[in-house]
Amino acid sequence: ALKGTFSSKAQKQTQRSYTHLQTNASYKVAILGAAGGIGQPLALLVKMSPLVSELNLYDIANVKGVAADLSHCNTPSKVSDFTGASELANCLKEVDVVVIPAGVPRKPGMTRDDLFNINANIVRTLIECVADNCPDAFIHIISNPVNSTVPIAAEVLKQKGVYDPKKLFGVTTLDVVRANTFLAQRKNLKLIDVDVPVVGGHAGITILPLLSRAKPSVSLTDEEVEELTLRIQNAGTEVVEAKAGAGSATLSMAYAAARFVESSLRALDGDSDVYECAYVESDLTDLPFFASRIKLGRDGVESVISSELQGLTEYEEKALEALKPELKASIEKGVAFAQKQT
Ligand code: NAD
Ligand code: LMR
Repeated sequence: ALKGTFSSKAQKQTQRSYTHLQTNASYKVAILGAAGGIGQPLALLVKMSPLVSELNLYDIANVKGVAADLSHCNTPSKVSDFTGASELANCLKEVDVVVIPAGVPRKPGMTRDDLFNINANIVRTLIECVADNCPDAFIHIISNPVNSTVPIAAEVLKQKGVYDPKKLFGVTTLDVVRANTFLAQRKNLKLIDVDVPVVGGHAGITILPLLSRAKPSVSLTDEEVEELTLRIQNAGTEVVEAKAGAGSATLSMAYAAARFVESSLRALDGDSDVYECAYVESDLTDLPFFASRIKLGRDGVESVISSELQGLTEYEEKALEALKPELKASIEKGVAFAQKQT
């Protein structure tokens, strides 16, 4: 069903999984915040996956209609709706992958960190229930500020005694999707071939595309590197401004999140060649959380690909050093918030 939907290596891998692996796999996916701007198109894309047997949609309101609508699509998965805190535990039972786009989006003039107060509480509450009901699931955090919400989730899972750092992911796939698109446009490359790793975090200068590591290898002037890097870092703001108060990226985000879900399901299904960039617990740098390319396996992060941070250009080295204090502060803010609650 999704054949041809995803770009670059992920697309090739997805296509291969349909031809070489059994496609009667039956995984259960839950989306928390499923009636929202991201949640709805994400639910549609996940409904199209041949790897999904059950799709559980949770929100505090308006999810019944979304589920009724989606359930008429003649793809294999069964769609169920869950409304409000009293139904959350049931939504999460035996789930393999839980995706969290619940929370408020930015308006023009706001930073992602301006969302902290509201979204930190939402993520904490949802993760408490995840810890109690599906502690073995892959957890995909989309809610911003991702640089802080992932450390919050980690702390809550630790407090509950069920933290598995290999299964907690901040979703940064949209940064890779954007980097691929913008580089392909700038250099007239065939999109399917382009793959740019993006490391660091998911806000402003913490988003660091490693253009020197792009595949195919491209020669870029210093000006082109600067222009592309800034565009990738500011792409979220580009959408927030274009939507002029009506929210932030939802459709491209749903596309990116669906790609990360599909990659996770292929890894769970035994595909041994699944790579994505994600914001995870990491010892790649001196920061406890860091986005980089990872290899995904049945148990989550199988390895963090360290080679990509070696032999960076001077521009990338400087940008890497420059992002660390901001990312460190965002991580510490998240940890402090979660620890204060106990
Ligand atoms: P939205 O307002 O359209 O939808 C959010 C949904 O979350 C709503 O349906 C709302 O009812 C629901 N919600 C609120 N509180 C909840 C709770 N306690 N439990 C369950 N659901 C709850 O927003 P959106 O555009 O879908 O964005 C959602 C989040 O994703 C924002 O924080 C945004 O900043 C973030 N985002 C992240 C990325 C990324 O790359 N990681 C990209 C785009 C947006
Ligand atoms: C994005 O990168 O589009 C998201 O993080 C949403 C935002 O606030 O920019």
